[in-house]
Amino acid sequence: MSMAQLSIPLFKVFMAESAHAALKPVLESGRLAIGRQVAEFESRLAAWLGASETVALGDASGALTLALYLSGVRPGDEVITSPLACSATVSPIANLFARPVWCDVDPLTGMPDAENIAELITAKTRAILLYHWSGDVANVGSIMALARQRGIKVVEDASEALGAEWHGHRLGVEADFTVYSFYATKHINTGEGAALLTADPQMAKTARHLRRFGIDTAKLRLPNGDLDPSFDIPLAGFNFPMNEIAATLGLEQLPHASGIVASHRANGQYYDTALAEIPDLHLLKRREDSVSGFWTYALRAERRDDLIRKLLSHGIGAQRLHLRNDGYSCFGGEAQQLPGVAAFDAQNLSIPCGWWVGDEERERVTECIRAGW
Ligand SMILES: Cc1ncc(COP(=O)(O)O)c(C=O)c1O
Repeated sequence: MSMAQLSIPLFKVFMAESAHAALKPVLESGRLAIGRQVAEFESRLAAWLGASETVALGDASGALTLALYLSGVRPGDEVITSPLACSATVSPIANLFARPVWCDVDPLTGMPDAENIAELITAKTRAILLYHWSGDVANVGSIMALARQRGIKVVEDASEALGAEWHGHRLGVEADFTVYSFYATKHINTGEGAALLTADPQMAKTARHLRRFGIDTAKLRLPNGDLDPSFDIPLAGFNFPMNEIAATLGLEQLPHASGIVASHRANGQYYDTALAEIPDLHLLKRREDSVSGFWTYALRAERRDDLIRKLLSHGIGAQRLHLRNDGYSCFGGEAQQLPGVAAFDAQNLSIPCGWWVGDEERERVTECIRAGW
């Protein structure tokens, strides 16, 4: 069965009805590149997340590249990260000509703890790149404490964790940099887009310059509008901005974010109870001090591939969420000996949990699993 035929898909693109009307004036405004809509999206998103600074960008891959760069990652440096992540999480390390140093994970969460990371820190380590598996929250507290102690930056990939909470607030307060993706299938989307969060206003300012070639637009022009010949670019930048069309989509979707997050969470919490104590099924360990964003419902199963096959044959989306990255030839082609990673990788799968899954659908998913595979 193709993904398109699934009656309960794993991912679905949300679109606010109001987006059609909101886009018209923007499309006709004569300004499509970064402008007022982007600034408005940044401030409303910051308010929703409870973040001090959010910088809107073209996609999360660019945001992670920028976050690592601002963390001081340069060619030859090392970044500690788990191989269990989206390939888009770790590619920015290679894009900066740095080296991923693969750490092990707790097989009950799929994510590293501080002790998996501590032993890998060397003089070349510049950053820890922490990915929150399908919106489940990693051990942010202990990893931040380790990083602070050793003078290393932490970059969080919270692309799948919109609405997730740690100690009662949304992600983006503890780490040096936090990235959310607004790719089409995320909780809310801007077509393509992302946000980079930092509590450091100076870093946010530099990020705003670096997203457009390193240019400080406030200083680029003379009062008469001409380019200022004395203008300087101290740090060569990238081209990673969000545009006005994407920001408009984001502004129309943000009012729905709380409702979407609540649906994902209600479904996740339903499965936590409904799928408990099914033979050969292992629910993930979730921390008491956090609440998952439940992008998908991630779990582990014995004979995982058989379960995926069964779910698909019943029209229910299911897959391994991500493949491990350390075996890819772009990273050296050699899967590391990491027992926690191997154990989690052998059994992980994701089932549908999003806003499109209602009472009937989640009961159908549960019954299908409960009947065995
Ligand atoms: C965890 C994670 N990181 C990064 C990305 C890449 O995001 P983008 O498509 O916005 O670059 C994705 C998926 O799209 C993701 O799931």
